[in-house]
Amino acid sequence: MERTFAIIKPDAFKAGNAGKILARIYEEGFKVVGLKKLYLSKVEAEGFYYVHKERPFFDELTTFMSSGPCVVMVLEADNAIKKWRDLMGATNPDDAAEGTLRKQFGTFVGENATHGSDAPETAAFEMGYFFAGLELL
Ligand code: RTP
Ligand code: MG
Repeated sequence: MERTFAIIKPDAFKAGNAGKILARIYEEGFKVVGLKKLYLSKVEAEGFYYVHKERPFFDELTTFMSSGPCVVMVLEADNAIKKWRDLMGATNPDDAAEGTLRKQFGTFVGENATHGSDAPETAAFEMGYFFAGLELL
């Protein structure tokens, strides 16, 4: 079993899609190990996405991520990192395949409904950024 870190981003939460996304997570066979709603500050969003701090979209991204509540989760499954990224689909909803979450719930590249860790090292950092060990029992 592997764990990954996921976010239902502010666009999807605001649109009332958190329940539908969570239902899909269960249907696809993930175990939800950790889950909480947060309203990130700009500084907290910047700390989370620090790997992108030199990118031109960093300010837009962190402003968006701190624009409203989101849901942060730790998901467990066989091959969870890839399985969750496959379920999300391509970063740009226009490029995302039918049946993926970003195709169904995303609006454009900057507001694409969900986040997922891209590797074991980033998953470990991201889980630890939002959850203490005793929240993941
Ligand atoms: P995420 O980290 O949110 O799961 O998305 P990702 O791995 O598919 O994409 P990544 O390259 O890590 O980019 C992080 C987020 O930045 C926004 N972005 N905007 N305007 C742009 O060209 C642009 N490129 C990326 C997206 O919202 C993406 O999810
Ligand atoms: Mg990423």
